[in-house]
Amino acid sequence: MYQYVIRGGNPLAGEVNISGAKNAALAILAAAIMTDDTVVIDNLPNVSDVNVLIDSIEGIGATVKHIDNHTVSICGATISSVVVDYDAIKKMRASYYLLGALLGKFRKAKVALPGGCTIGARPIDLHIKGFRALGATVNIADGCVVAQAAGGLSGSHIYLDKVSVGATINIMMAAALSGGKTIIENAAKEPHVVDVANFLNSMGARIRGAGTDVVRIIGVEKLHGSEYSVIPDQIEAGTYMFAAAATKGDVTVKNVIPKHLEATTAKLLEMGCEIHEFDDAVRVVSKGNLTHTQVTTLPYPGFPTDMQPQMAVLLGIAQGVSTVTESIFENRFKYVGELARMGGNIKVEGNIAIITGVDGYQGARVCVPDLRAGAALVIAGLSADGITVLDDIQYIQRGYEDIVEKFKSLGAEMELVCSDEEIRAFAEAK
Ligand code: EPU
Repeated sequence: MYQYVIRGGNPLAGEVNISGAKNAALAILAAAIMTDDTVVIDNLPNVSDVNVLIDSIEGIGATVKHIDNHTVSICGATISSVVVDYDAIKKMRASYYLLGALLGKFRKAKVALPGGCTIGARPIDLHIKGFRALGATVNIADGCVVAQAAGGLSGSHIYLDKVSVGATINIMMAAALSGGKTIIENAAKEPHVVDVANFLNSMGARIRGAGTDVVRIIGVEKLHGSEYSVIPDQIEAGTYMFAAAATKGDVTVKNVIPKHLEATTAKLLEMGCEIHEFDDAVRVVSKGNLTHTQVTTLPYPGFPTDMQPQMAVLLGIAQGVSTVTESIFENRFKYVGELARMGGNIKVEGNIAIITGVDGYQGARVCVPDLRAGAALVIAGLSADGITVLDDIQYIQRGYEDIVEKFKSLGAEMELVCSDEEIRAFAEAK
């Protein structure tokens, strides 16, 4: 079992390159199997979720070549099975994208119900509603979603009762290869929804309106090969920006689309940080004390739920009382108990965290409950007095490429270790 160990207190300074967006990459990889031609995808983040999905795509027979750490070519012509079993993807949420992709291409799919971070119940009823509206029969059997449309898929008018990134993308994929026109209303507008639509369009799909709440798709008979580069990860970027703020640092995040970071930068400005925006970079300078604020997570362009734990950690060392309202997932405050062990003062009432700022965190041994909570605890550790040890870091590795190297390049003292001896050696090495 590996751990991260951090000696906190160094203000982060310098430049850090942001990797490709995990959540865009996962959907794009699944969509890549929808053509028999070869597709080349680059700017993939080298994180475990992406690698698990690539393995499961290979597992159903697609030909995958790793061109370098961030680039693969995928050819779906060799796919021999439409069954994706539990072992292949049990730890992964995005496995559900293989449903839309396989159903669109082969008119049938059997994919194990998704796992992923336990941040809420995370039903997929809207995905299923969408597939049914396109003419598929969908059942749950052996822990799998079984979807088929022997007579083909036909365009439909679908209203999503709740804004869902996954359902929007999944329906978009299946509808891209259906007969006729599909309209998705109350669609998610996240940058990765747009990125997946752009990718599908680069393969010959006809999707308009992605990035607005009405997406229109005219089905085509087949898709062709493409070369595509995944957009930068707005959540990884936001995490480094908040780490800069928490450590009173001066960090430039590079290879980003500043527009995608607006909700994050707005909060940093409110809290008293300086922000400098460039074409593809954002610099965060944090000098004085941080001030309290209120935050509510909302679908894009609102404040992202994937930045909520990082936000709470930052507000935990801001002056005054702040609130964070989580409106997307019902179980995303699992880091609060761990943060209390570092001196944080957060009380949760329903979906609201009431945060009373403390002067600073103290290092402690903490357990990572999920991906973004893990990133938040790293930020707490970087700003804390003393040594922080994080257990269960596999959650963090699902979504953050080279996190140790990136933070070290900004002046952090942080290591990946695998024994208490190594932790002791790190702690004594000063
Ligand atoms: N929902 C339903 N029914 C559905 C689908 C969603 O009720 O059929 C609800 C969910 O329970 C939630 C809300 O709708 O309350 C929004 O969920 P959404 O479908 O947008 O989330 P998701 O597609 O499961 C993706 C990301 C998450 C990110 C959310 C919100 C991937 C693989 N996951 O999840 O990312 O938090 O969108 O932006 O793209 C992460 O990266 O740490 C992560 C959890």
